[in-house]
Amino acid sequence: MTGFNRLKENFHTEGKLTKLSVNINKIATLRNARGGNVPDVQKVAVDCEHFGAQGITVHPRPDERHIRYSDVELLKPLVSTEFNIEGYPSPSFIELVARIKPHQVTLVPDPPEAITSSAGWDTIEHHDFLVDVIKTFQSHGIRTSIFVGTEAGFIEGAAKVGCNRVELYTEPYATSYPVDRASAIKPFVDAAVRARDLGLELNAGHDLSLENLRYMKEQIPWLKEVSIGHALIADALYYGLQNTIQMYLRQLRD
Ligand code: PXP
Repeated sequence: MTGFNRLKENFHTEGKLTKLSVNINKIATLRNARGGNVPDVQKVAVDCEHFGAQGITVHPRPDERHIRYSDVELLKPLVSTEFNIEGYPSPSFIELVARIKPHQVTLVPDPPEAITSSAGWDTIEHHDFLVDVIKTFQSHGIRTSIFVGTEAGFIEGAAKVGCNRVELYTEPYATSYPVDRASAIKPFVDAAVRARDLGLELNAGHDLSLENLRYMKEQIPWLKEVSIGHALIADALYYGLQNTIQMYLRQLRD
């Protein structure tokens, strides 16, 4: 292959590549259940990368019941793919992320005590807050993504707060998928098209699984990244971590 053709092919694949970022919070939950260092969160992150994951996601919460702030510090020099830190932008979170400087920060609106994220931002009501926080992260050279639902007004609001990407909150898609996948995906395709038209890159996450991931990728091929934790770690109990990561990667291939 000539250099030019290789360049063309790389451009082609890079344009369509949807990265798999493995959320390792569940590994920390398992470790914390016993108080020791089994399983070793840092080792699992590096192994996920060896097994093919193109990113590692962590979600440190203020009570540190899953990933601890100290885990994030330890992971920073170890993660060689894309490091994504997600969370509510409290003062301590902002300080941590600005110091660690991951490739990407994903802002979620959930209160500290939430079990998991259960909604996207109201980007209209929180416009001023988001503008300030996003400016801070961008001044540190960190790509900023915000978690949003599919409401057109909130996608338009996201474009106005200056974020680089939006992460679509896919729980409603996952819930409706087994009933009627075509109508489940429709609001997500509409939101994805609107985001693209507004110049926003697109991530997706929440309850994505081996059952519903391929269809989402087929319908929204320009997705930049999916962040997956719960289902992937649960699947790993049956298939093993290496096989499971390969199975998820296969769903994302054309
Ligand atoms: N994206 C965000 C913003 C999240 O908060 C979570 C859950 O921590 C995920 C993605 C991953 O969701 P799941 O664990 O259901 O794959």
